[in-house]
Parts: sequence; structure tokens; C-alpha cells
Amino acid sequence: MTALITGASAGIGLELAREFAQDKIDLVLVARREERLTKLAQELETSHGISVTVILQDLSEPSAAEVLFQTVQDKKIDIHYLVNNAGFGDVGEFVHSDMDKQHAMINLNVLTLTKLTRLFGAVMKEKGSGTILNVASDAAFRPGPMMSVYFATKHYVLAFSEAIAEELKPYGVVISILCPGATQSEFGEMAGFGPLAEDSPFPTSKEVAAYGYEQMKNGEVIVVHGKNNQERIAEEKDMTRRQVRERVYEQMGGVVK
Ligand SMILES: NC(=O)c1ccc[n+]([C@@H]2O[C@H](COP(=O)([O-])OP(=O)(O)OC[C@H]3O[C@@H](n4cnc5c(N)ncnc54)[C@H](OP(=O)(O)O)[C@@H]3O)[C@@H](O)[C@H]2O)c1
Repeated sequence: MTALITGASAGIGLELAREFAQDKIDLVLVARREERLTKLAQELETSHGISVTVILQDLSEPSAAEVLFQTVQDKKIDIHYLVNNAGFGDVGEFVHSDMDKQHAMINLNVLTLTKLTRLFGAVMKEKGSGTILNVASDAAFRPGPMMSVYFATKHYVLAFSEAIAEELKPYGVVISILCPGATQSEFGEMAGFGPLAEDSPFPTSKEVAAYGYEQMKNGEVIVVHGKNNQERIAEEKDMTRRQVRERVYEQMGGVVK
């Protein structure tokens, strides 16, 4: 069995790779940073006796999914698990944002994820088995003033993946959607928050990946990590949309420079 994981060079994706490796599942690791992927591949091959293929690719390119799918086909690797984890955010007022960065984010978080689900999902349906783990966020459940495009991309990931979960269920293909809350990783630096404090109360990427992996194996469709995040989503069901967006805006005010 083989799992393809996008964004495996850091954070949650890297820890998901370790989870699959522990179950002796071969891996295809995809990201842009060669040294990190090669080091991880060596570590996992040595410690678990699995085969790990590294593919270096910028997945924000418009045709990235087709190129990646073809590369995997050419290598004759059969993918049983697809993990669409690569993603990034951007903090700040939308009208002053760097449009190229927003465009790359939409391509990575939405377009590439959609196309990879289409390409590998069709093969899985044909085989009558397979699992796709799409990484959304707790941001999928509320609007995100000061991080508007990112939150919207994660709304898309949740809505799209839930729908496909229903379509593919009769064919033995499982779709699971991991929705982490704030998690220790490189995400904050990429998004422009800066690094998290040393004594950050947020869970580690390892904790989030372990939970997501376990729930995916249980066949759970929507997987929200952490009691706090689960409670907040439940609480917001009793609030008006206006109250929710005003609260997020106020909270974001504290972190946006
Ligand atoms: N951390 C959080 O607070 C949090 C909360 C909710 C959801 N999430 C979601 O969790 C997922 C993983 O994030 P993380 O927290 O683990 O962040 P991270 O530590 O910054 O890792 C992001 C991964 O995505 C890869 N990536 C970024 N841009 C890419 C591109 N253009 N092409 C290919 N790979 C790219 C990075 O690899 P390279 O740079 O080597 O390409 C890296 O491996 C994301 O979808 C994120 O939205 C994170």
C-alpha cells in the first residue's frame, strides 16, 4: 500500500508521513524543499523498512496536479491513500494584500486539491477502494476577516470534500476531512503571524496528525481536532453570523501587526 502526501516537508504533513510509516505503508512525499524531504525519506526508510519516493514540485502551479499524477503513473506507483495537506494562509486586510500570493494560495489550497481528488479519486472508484484525506481547518466553519481568502479556501475544502464523500461512499472510497485549529508548525510564519511563542498552548503537529490519522482509519468524514475547537464550532451554531464574524475580527485584531 502507498500513501501520497502533499506538503510533507514540515508540520502536519511531515507528522502524517510518520503515522503512515508506522503502519508500514510506502510513501510518496511531495513538496518544494528537497533537503527536508530527502532527510525524512531516509529516516522513514531506515526506521520502518518502507519505500519512500520524493517528488519535488510547486503545487501552486496551475497544472501541478496533472504533472504530479503523470509522474506517479510513469513511476507505476499505485496510490491507496491521497493526503491533500499542502496549504498556506496570509494575514492582513484583503484590499492591501499581495494578489499573486492570494492567487497561489487559491491554486494550492483549492485548485490542486480539487484536481488531485478528481484524478486519483477516479482511479480509486474504478478499483473499488482507496482513501482521500483532505486537510481543511476549523477556519472552514466561520468567515475570517483579516484572513479572508484563506478561510474561504478552507470553506471550499470542507464543502467540496463532504459532497465527494457522499458520491464515492457507494464505491468503497473514503473521504476524510481533517480540520485542525491553531497548531504548532511553520504555518504562522508562512501566513505572516511570525513564529509561535515557545510556551504556546496550541497542540503539536504530531498530536494533530495522530488524531487525524486515527479518525481517517475509522472512516470519519469530518474530523475536528481538539475539544476547544469542537466546542467553539458547537457554540457558534447558537450565534448569529454577524456575531461570529465580529468575534473573529476582534480576535484577529490581537494577532495582526
Ligand atoms: N498550523 C495551523 O495552525 C493549521 C490550522 C488549520 C489548518 N492547517 C492546515 O494544515 C495544512 C498543513 O499546514 P501546516 O500547519 O503543517 O503548515 P507548514 O508547517 O507551513 O507546512 C506546509 C507544508 O505545505 C508545503 N507547501 C506550501 N506551499 C507549497 C507549494 N506551493 N507547493 C508544494 N508544497 C507546498 C510546505 O512544503 P515546502 O515549503 O517545502 O514546499 C510544507 O510541507 C495546511 O493545509 C494548513 O492550511 C494548519
